[in-house]
Amino acid sequence: YPKQKPVVSLMRERLSKEILDLLKQIGHVARDMGFGVFVVGGFVRDLLLRRQNDDIDIVIEGDGITFAKAFAEMMGARINTYTKFGTSVIIFPDGFKVDVATARMEYYPSPAALPEVETSSIKLDLYRRDFTINTLAIRLDPDGFGTLTDFFNGQRDIKEKRIRILHNLSFVEDPTRVFRAIKFEQRFGFTIGKVTREMIKNAIHLDVFRELGGLRVFNEFRQILEEENPIPSILRIFDLGLMEIIHPGITRHNELIDQLDEAKKVLAWHDLMYTDEPIERWIIYFLTLLAPCDREVSEVVARRLMLPPKYRKILTEERFHARGAYTWLTHGLPAANSDLHRQLSPLRTELLLYVMAISKGEAIKKSISHYMSQLRHITLSIRGRDLKTLGLKPGPRYGEILADTLAAKLDGQLKDRDDELAFAAGYL
Ligand code: CTP
Repeated sequence: YPKQKPVVSLMRERLSKEILDLLKQIGHVARDMGFGVFVVGGFVRDLLLRRQNDDIDIVIEGDGITFAKAFAEMMGARINTYTKFGTSVIIFPDGFKVDVATARMEYYPSPAALPEVETSSIKLDLYRRDFTINTLAIRLDPDGFGTLTDFFNGQRDIKEKRIRILHNLSFVEDPTRVFRAIKFEQRFGFTIGKVTREMIKNAIHLDVFRELGGLRVFNEFRQILEEENPIPSILRIFDLGLMEIIHPGITRHNELIDQLDEAKKVLAWHDLMYTDEPIERWIIYFLTLLAPCDREVSEVVARRLMLPPKYRKILTEERFHARGAYTWLTHGLPAANSDLHRQLSPLRTELLLYVMAISKGEAIKKSISHYMSQLRHITLSIRGRDLKTLGLKPGPRYGEILADTLAAKLDGQLKDRDDELAFAAGYL
């Protein structure tokens, strides 16, 4: 039997009224359909850790898809279903999502002529998960609403700050869990349990990662690099010899820690200065890790991780444009605004931040900061059609003239639209 305890008051204290009401409604509807119903996993873990988490994972003992359809209809929400896995996502009009899974059916042969017995069990569903801290469930049915249900000592491991697998084949079954263990360990300040540590070593020894799909490695690795502070996890990955899964050419060289620290500082600076500009933080760390690697290594990494085209291009092309800009900056400063603009405008923000991270001293950082805060926002008031009005035949010259005009504007030579027109007219 599982350990049980009421956590309604904790739920009231920690959850918004909207979420609490939603969970109650889910409980009612499922009960009326005759299904058992639980909220499970990271949501419950984070509730006990008093951390914000709005990813609601529901497990239905019964038919999750039928439930999701009925519930979505009632709420005026859409759903996506994955019949093969018995899962659905309910998507509310405001974009809020709730995942619904079906506690997997198990079939037991029964004696004599009786048909086999079908059991759906929350316990079996939870047993298939990665770590004990993720196996906690809370009942949502009206009679048992708010009953924390703990089959595998998840509460104890949360209290003792321990990441522990449920059975010894866990990492062999799903090697990505090794990355997840590292992620959770650092995120919560927990420790990977002794047996679990042994099993990680064992999995590495058995080379279970060789068969692992690139996209899965990429997703886990990216998640780690998106954590608040990924540096300890990165070092752990090196220590365990796991970086080789991505590429043996990614090494823990002498300057790496300083560069990663620098990347972290640059990101903090960006957060502060450009709150509204969304960036993909992991790219900056990833590029920093790859900084000493050549083009060939980038190609292999991109293939190994099955990177989507956008990221492949960042890795194998844009990274080298950034390198070029970096080399130029180390020799070319101080520079005219127009030169700075020409060097930096082809680079997306992540690449600019990467150059800041690998640069030593303040001069390069200052120049990039100047570009980001001022220069990149400067645009011309005139366009191609103004050149046409001036009497210039449309053609490739347009681009050159406009670029020159912009350069002059960046260097402070043109004050207003009339100045721009006059400058462009000089080319006629
Ligand atoms: N899970 C697993 N094995 C994996 C990935 C996930 O067993 N390789 C299980 C975990 O038990 C987890 C659940 O699936 O609770 C959902 O996973 P995820 O969406 O990654 O959620 P979280 O555990 O909340 O992770 P995060 O906080 O980083 O989103």
